[in-house]
Amino acid sequence: MGNINLDNRLNFPATKRNRYSIARVLRDYISPNSLFLEIASGSGEHGVFFQKTFPSIIWQTSDPELVHRKSINSWIKHEGLFYKMPEPLDINVEKRPWPITKQIRSLIKGIVCINMIHISPWSCTKALFKESKNNLNQNHFLMIYGPFIRKDVQTSDSNLNFDQSLKFQNPLWGIRHLEEVNKLAFMNGFVKEKVIEMPANNLSVIYRLN
Ligand SMILES: C[S@@+](CC[C@H](N)C(=O)[O-])C[C@H]1O[C@@H](n2cnc3c(N)ncnc32)[C@H](O)[C@@H]1O
Repeated sequence: MGNINLDNRLNFPATKRNRYSIARVLRDYISPNSLFLEIASGSGEHGVFFQKTFPSIIWQTSDPELVHRKSINSWIKHEGLFYKMPEPLDINVEKRPWPITKQIRSLIKGIVCINMIHISPWSCTKALFKESKNNLNQNHFLMIYGPFIRKDVQTSDSNLNFDQSLKFQNPLWGIRHLEEVNKLAFMNGFVKEKVIEMPANNLSVIYRLN
């Protein structure tokens, strides 16, 4: 892995709050000796935590930002996981096909995307589903975690404010409507398997490739 500086580690405070509840959801979907691809890994704190929590699998991180990939590498080194965890991949969901080797492709059983679809244009959510379909086999899953707006559920004030602040930063960002995401999933051959309520008005949504 060359000379990786521990000081490249970034701290994303939310990862310390939500990693336990996300791991509890993932536990039911993890199968040993397989690989799980994380899209938009950010700092890498989730990645190393999930790798340590599920030692029988390989957690493959990715992010399009160099500063994030450097942070991920530093976290991997800091946690002594370099013997197990691959280096992060440079995946921008919209740059298709994703740079995934045949070997990785043959091991992937699931794709996990935490807190990305509201902080990127809708075209990224579309690309996420299209390319997940291309890299998963039947019965494999795509898990999306984050805030959602739901038709029959009152949106919390905190999510409404968050949505406004996202749109202020970039008019193409914003909290997605679960029903719209479900439609996209269906169009790409996924079925919505489960919606799990998470702390702080977030959801984990599990889509299974049909
Ligand atoms: C709010 S951060 C979430 C990071 C991490 N998943 C977490 O929960 O802490 C959003 C992440 O989405 C990534 N991202 C933004 N646009 C992307 C794209 N087009 N493809 C892949 N990742 C993207 C950013 O680089 C950033 O790491």
